[in-house]
Amino acid sequence: MNVQQHIQLQPYNSFRTKALAKLFAQPETVEELQEILTTYKSENKLIIGHGYNLFFTRDFDGLIIKPEIYGLQILEENDYWVEIEAGASEDWDAFVEFCVSRGYSGIENLSLIPGTVGAAPIQNIGAYGAEVKDVITLVKTVETGSGNVKNFTNAECDFTYRNSIFKQTRKYVITSVIFRLQKSFSYVEKYADLSRELKDNPHPLLREVREAVINVRNRKLPDPESLPNAGSFFKNPILTKEEKENLLALLPDAPVYNAGTDGFKTSAAYLIEKAGYKGKRKDNVGTYEHHALIVVNYGTENGKEISDFVQDIQHEVKSKFDIGLEPEVWMF
Ligand code: EPU
Repeated sequence: MNVQQHIQLQPYNSFRTKALAKLFAQPETVEELQEILTTYKSENKLIIGHGYNLFFTRDFDGLIIKPEIYGLQILEENDYWVEIEAGASEDWDAFVEFCVSRGYSGIENLSLIPGTVGAAPIQNIGAYGAEVKDVITLVKTVETGSGNVKNFTNAECDFTYRNSIFKQTRKYVITSVIFRLQKSFSYVEKYADLSRELKDNPHPLLREVREAVINVRNRKLPDPESLPNAGSFFKNPILTKEEKENLLALLPDAPVYNAGTDGFKTSAAYLIEKAGYKGKRKDNVGTYEHHALIVVNYGTENGKEISDFVQDIQHEVKSKFDIGLEPEVWMF
C-alpha cells in the first residue's frame, strides 16, 4: 500500500487553505484500508471525502486517509422500493442523479449537496425538509483503532440534526452506505423556498423537484469551485424555552421553530445578519452577500484567517443576543 509523505492538502479542502499532511493514503478497497489502519496504529488519523466540510489552520501531524472506494449495487427490490449499496467515495450528487433518473425517490431534496456518499451519514445531511437518516438502512464501516469491520443499523447510527455516532466518536471509517428508496413519488410540501420555486406546478415529477432544488441552491449558495466555502458554517441553534423568550424579547421577528423534545430552533443566518455580519468582509474572508450563514474565502491560503473571522462572528452574536453558535464545519 502506497502511503505518501508531506502532501499538500490545499486541493483536499473546499476553503483551499494550505497545510501539509505528514502522511497521506488513498485505499481502494476495504482490505487496503484495514491494512493501513493496522500498520499505522499509533498515528493521529483524519478521514476525508471531498473535504467540503473541513479546512486546515496548520499542518496535520498524522495520517490523512482519503478512501477511494466506489461502486453502486442494487441489493434487493420489489414493486415498492429498492435497496442500493453505494461506495463511500461516490460523489453524492451523482448518486442523487443516478437515483432520480431511475425514478427512485427519497433523496431528491438533497440534490447538489457537495461531498461524498460516505460523508452524508456523518453529519446527517439535510435540506428542504429532508434528512438522509430517513432513507439509510445500514452504514458499513471499519473501526479506526482495530481495523475491524463494524456495521450500523439506522437506529445504531444515533442520527440527530447534523449529527450521528460517526461525528460524535470519530472512530469509524465509512466504507459504504445502504439506502432504501421508493419507486413511487408524490411531492409533499415541506419547505417554503422549494414550494415557492414550484408554485406553478402543484404536482411536480421527481425530476422537477430535483431541478427546483438545484435552482434554489444555485441562487442562494455560492459554488465552492469558484468561491471557496463549506456551505452553512454554523448549525442552527437549539434553544431552551428561556433562551427562546430572551431572544424574542430582543428580536421579536426572530424565526423560531418547534424542535420537538429538543426545544426550539432558530436561524443562525438571521442572527448573523442581525449582528451586522451579512455580506461583511475582513481582508480575504467574509460572509456571502446572499446568505449570512455561508463563510467565503476571497483569497487567503491561511486557515487561521478563516477561524479568526469565524470567532468574530461567534463573539458578536454571543454579546448581542447571548446565543452561542456551534460550527458545523470541522477546523484542524
Ligand atoms: N435568513 C436570514 N438571512 C440570510 C439567510 C437566511 O435571515 O442571509 C433566514 C431567513 O429567515 C430564512 C431562514 O434564515 O427563512 C432560513 O434560511 P435557509 O432557508 O437558507 O436555511 P438555513 O437554515 O440557513 C439550512 C441548512 C442548509 C440547507 C437549507 C435549506 C443548516 C445549518 N443549514 O440552512 O444546509 O441547504 O437549510 O434546507 O441546517 C449546509 O448544511 O451546509 C447547508 C447548506
